[in-house]
Amino acid sequence: MILVREAIRRKKQDPVEAQGLATLNLYLGSFLILMSDAIIVTGGAGFIGSNFVLQWLRQESVRIVNLDSLTYAGNPANLLSISDHPRYEFVHGDVNDRGLVAGLFRRIQPGSIVHFAAESHVDRSILGPEEFVRTNIQGTFSLLEEAKAYWNSLPDAGKSRFRFLHVSTDEVYGSLGENDAAFCETTAYAPNSPYAASKAASDHLVRAYFHTYGLPTLTTNCSNNYGPFQFPEKLIPLMIHNALNGKPLPVYGDGKNVRDWLYVGDHCSAIRCVLHNGCPGETYNVGGHSERRNIDVVNTICAVLDELRPHSPHKPHASLITYVTDRPGHDRRYAINCSRIERELGWQPQVTFEGGIRNTVAWYLGHQDWVAGVTSGSYRDWIETQYAKRGGA
Ligand code: NAD
Ligand code: TYD
Repeated sequence: MILVREAIRRKKQDPVEAQGLATLNLYLGSFLILMSDAIIVTGGAGFIGSNFVLQWLRQESVRIVNLDSLTYAGNPANLLSISDHPRYEFVHGDVNDRGLVAGLFRRIQPGSIVHFAAESHVDRSILGPEEFVRTNIQGTFSLLEEAKAYWNSLPDAGKSRFRFLHVSTDEVYGSLGENDAAFCETTAYAPNSPYAASKAASDHLVRAYFHTYGLPTLTTNCSNNYGPFQFPEKLIPLMIHNALNGKPLPVYGDGKNVRDWLYVGDHCSAIRCVLHNGCPGETYNVGGHSERRNIDVVNTICAVLDELRPHSPHKPHASLITYVTDRPGHDRRYAINCSRIERELGWQPQVTFEGGIRNTVAWYLGHQDWVAGVTSGSYRDWIETQYAKRGGA
């Protein structure tokens, strides 16, 4: 099987063969995972993790076990629709609980692990970086150690099948100028926020476990995601939530910072693609070819809301836009060159930014009970701490 993968990897250099091989490789990858009977995900009750779990159960036939400590960002309601699914299991626990993680590996005997669990919000990392070091760095280290111990216990066939997929971010590459080329896999790391630094450290640990111990790791570095189940502290859901409630829409600085947006379902399909077909030890950039200035994103959301809520007393919603004090160390621009995953693995984003924003606004409009559930006590404290000093919401 390793020889087949190697032959495919060589042929991928030929662009004409790449597309056909992507399909063949998808079957081969699915077959390899099918030979094991389960995967473990960490952080599967968060935004991207829960979208991934739901997509996995729709698209794959293998069991999925979700280890999540349910921080403020983890929400079992995201997975209510599959709580009784015969191929889904939830385990409440911390990735830093080495005994629990070791026991889970022993009991589940997974073919792969996909590691989402993290503290993920830049503004929170500025106010309280310690938790980011504990979860993102120490937590990834704990998981790598237990994965290595489990992997070492496997027979040769199991060893070569096993994958440790680490879900990371484009923020590890730092900030781009207006005319700089987009980040590619060989761009030097230059993290600027405590969040980005903690993710960069975790990426380095993952890399080291491949090179030092041979653990078959994969890393994805993805751009900004948006879509259903995103906690309303991040730009897009915060703006939808505030606009619906007639609250100010706090745009940091001059609003001209640029992010490269990807619909969450496309990120999940990229992760499945890398898990099935990626080459151990490699990293893959994932992006949406959708660079937008923040102010343009907010105006797009407002225009969609004006259309979907024609009788809203807050229309035009763009009148709620309020420029507030900038984020310290605010990265100016992120842009992802994802030609490697497109060329070598045949993945491409399917959802346009405009289509994805429309879906997302419609989802939030249709799930106000979910929003109400996550915007209670501690959420209100966060908004108060975060925006009072900025002169915004
Ligand atoms: P999120 O904050 O919505 O969810 C994080 C999840 O991890 C939550 O369910 C939380 O309960 C869980 N968790 C936190 N600490 C834990 C611990 N110690 N043990 C077990 N579970 C724990 O995050 P997200 O936006 O879904 O991001 C998921 C991953 O994707 C992160 O690693 C993040 O760095 C990466 N990423 C996110 C984006 C984005 O735009 N959101 C983009 C690229 C990469
Ligand atoms: P965010 O969603 O926090 O993601 P990240 O910092 O990981 O890119 O922010 C996206 C962009 O939106 C970023 O440039 C900061 C900006 N922003 C605002 O202008 N106002 C806000 O209230 C928030 C949360 C973000």
